[in-house]
Amino acid sequence: MDVQRVGTCFIVIGILLVTHGDVEFVSANTILNVALGKNASQTDTAVGITPALAVDGFPSTCSISATASANWTLDLGDFYIIEEVSETRSESQWVSSVLKATSENTGWLSTNIKGANDTNVWMAENLHFVEVWFPGTVSPTQFDIYFESGAGSVKTIKCSDIYTLSYDPIWRNNPDNITNGRQMVSHVVNSSCFANWYHLEFAVSNHPLQVDAISSRGERDNQSWQQWASIVDDVSSELSGYEASNIKGVNDGAVWQPQSALNLQYVEVMFDNKVHVTRVDVYETITPVSSSSVAQIFSPHLTASCFSNHIMVEFQLFQHDVKVDAIRLHADKPPISIQLGMTQELYQAQEIMNRSSIATWRPADKGPYRYIRIQGSPQQEPLKLCNLQIKGYVSPRKPLFKPVKFITMTIPRIGKVSNIQSIIACATICTSQTAPPCVTGQFDPERQSCAMFGGFEHRKDNDNKNETMVFQFAAHLFEN
Ligand SMILES: *[C@@H]1O[C@H](CO)[C@@H](O)[C@H](O)[C@H]1NC(C)=O
Ligand SMILES: *[C@@H]1O[C@H](CO)[C@@H](O)[C@H](O)[C@H]1NC(C)=O
Ligand SMILES: *[C@@H]1O[C@H](CO)[C@@H](O)[C@H](O)[C@H]1NC(C)=O
Ligand SMILES: *[C@@H]1O[C@H](CO)[C@@H](O)[C@H](O)[C@H]1NC(C)=O
Ligand SMILES: *[C@@H]1O[C@H](CO)[C@@H](O)[C@H](O)[C@H]1NC(C)=O
Ligand SMILES: *[C@@H]1O[C@H](CO)[C@@H](O)[C@H](O)[C@H]1NC(C)=O
Ligand SMILES: *[C@@H]1O[C@H](CO)[C@@H](O)[C@H](O)[C@H]1NC(C)=O
Ligand SMILES: *[C@@H]1O[C@H](CO)[C@@H](O)[C@H](O)[C@H]1NC(C)=O
Repeated sequence: MDVQRVGTCFIVIGILLVTHGDVEFVSANTILNVALGKNASQTDTAVGITPALAVDGFPSTCSISATASANWTLDLGDFYIIEEVSETRSESQWVSSVLKATSENTGWLSTNIKGANDTNVWMAENLHFVEVWFPGTVSPTQFDIYFESGAGSVKTIKCSDIYTLSYDPIWRNNPDNITNGRQMVSHVVNSSCFANWYHLEFAVSNHPLQVDAISSRGERDNQSWQQWASIVDDVSSELSGYEASNIKGVNDGAVWQPQSALNLQYVEVMFDNKVHVTRVDVYETITPVSSSSVAQIFSPHLTASCFSNHIMVEFQLFQHDVKVDAIRLHADKPPISIQLGMTQELYQAQEIMNRSSIATWRPADKGPYRYIRIQGSPQQEPLKLCNLQIKGYVSPRKPLFKPVKFITMTIPRIGKVSNIQSIIACATICTSQTAPPCVTGQFDPERQSCAMFGGFEHRKDNDNKNETMVFQFAAHLFEN
């Protein structure tokens, strides 16, 4: 076959069968986390941290950049078909203590729920609940309930928020989903609750229902989007013993009280981190005329958004006594942008991932890709990645090549073979080179040699008379 006649049209000119190829096809479709332990780099990195912590398999260790405009990049080392990308700080934990349960049978105590699924069970009869603690306070995203025997379901999960102190349902089974026998049932919850104390109510349809263990999954790091005032930098008036500086920190009973109850009053407070403010909570106690005090959290609907760490709150006071205990700022978790590319310069797929929801992206175009680049929000905070997972498999090395001309490769070659007579022979050599894998072969007709490359980085060069063969899946990178 004469490659010259094919010219610059992109036509499959040969299917090259090589012995190594078959082995690769068989193992190709096992979908794994292909990011684990791969080579990560970052444009700048916080002291004492390495970029590799994002892909070390431990959600509790994180890569952190020094600046908010940093880029984090991963080289997968080969070309992969990408099914799913996710980034989460979520970690799972087992119940550490049981506070309350509606029924207890000797040998089937509710405390048996503690720890992992170990076949030590709590027996629930009829309609029942347990109240459980977990060691870590998190924003819960999922509950896994291990049933041992019997039939029934979880009806409600309530969460005891540490800030609002409310005890709200965060999940309801509607309609009832009955579980029968030994199994693990997962319920995804969506709530802004931040807690380590939950109430689970069970419905029993065929008693006894035996509950073995409960694990919760959630996001632990709340630093970036909930903060208490750290500095009070201006105030209109204050009473001795009720200074404005009492507003600092959590709602602790130490309050600010202005001198006059019949005036416009204000405080200005600062927070540690600048954020896109989504909510401000003012913790106050109010003593109406001839009545006892009530505590309340005032969370006004914000009519404009702002990016700041400096908040001024004005109070219009009437015939009652208002004291301010604390002020808390809420913000959106900053989104991250994830890009997937075949080369270090060109990224073909991109997604903005919202970290306020469970962040999973299934790219419409699955690639193959080799490089992953992640950017944070340049004005917000350093980029923090704890558990980046990329589910995929090695792109089948289908021995389909496309010829291109006038190309100079811009990456170092991985090997060179002499005494080569044709571009087809060069492509065959490239296909059989699997460690490191060759994806581009370049035949030099003058020197009768074949250079092999592990990537596609190149530039146009009308003086280069080499004949280049690239794997078909990358042919579009060489057009024009
Ligand atoms: C990891 O990537 C860096 C930067 O791209 C490179 O210098 C280094 O050689 C790579 N290490 C390995 C083991 O591939
Ligand atoms: C990060 O990548 C973007 C392109 O996506 C680029 O504009 C920006 O300058 C890069 N930041 C750094 C610190 O290199
Ligand atoms: C605990 O559950 C897992 C599945 O989530 C299962 O593989 C394991 O065998 C269970 N252990 C016991 C002791 O039942
Ligand atoms: C009930 O179970 C089915 C199958 O396990 C599941 O598809 C469905 O989402 C469940 N419904 C609820 C409300 O949990
Ligand atoms: C989570 O709940 C909020 C309101 O509570 C809702 O706006 C949002 O769409 C929900 N997200 C998902 C993924 O269910
Ligand atoms: C984050 O949560 C912890 C509880 O785990 C709490 O002590 C801390 O004050 C919270 N931080 C902020 C900034 O809200
Ligand atoms: C991200 O979350 C915000 C609310 O927190 C929502 O308004 C927005 O639509 C979400 N964006 C995406 C892409 O899910
Ligand atoms: C083939 O490419 C190499 C490296 O770019 C170059 O040194 C060589 O001169 C090229 N051969 C021809 C015939 O252009």
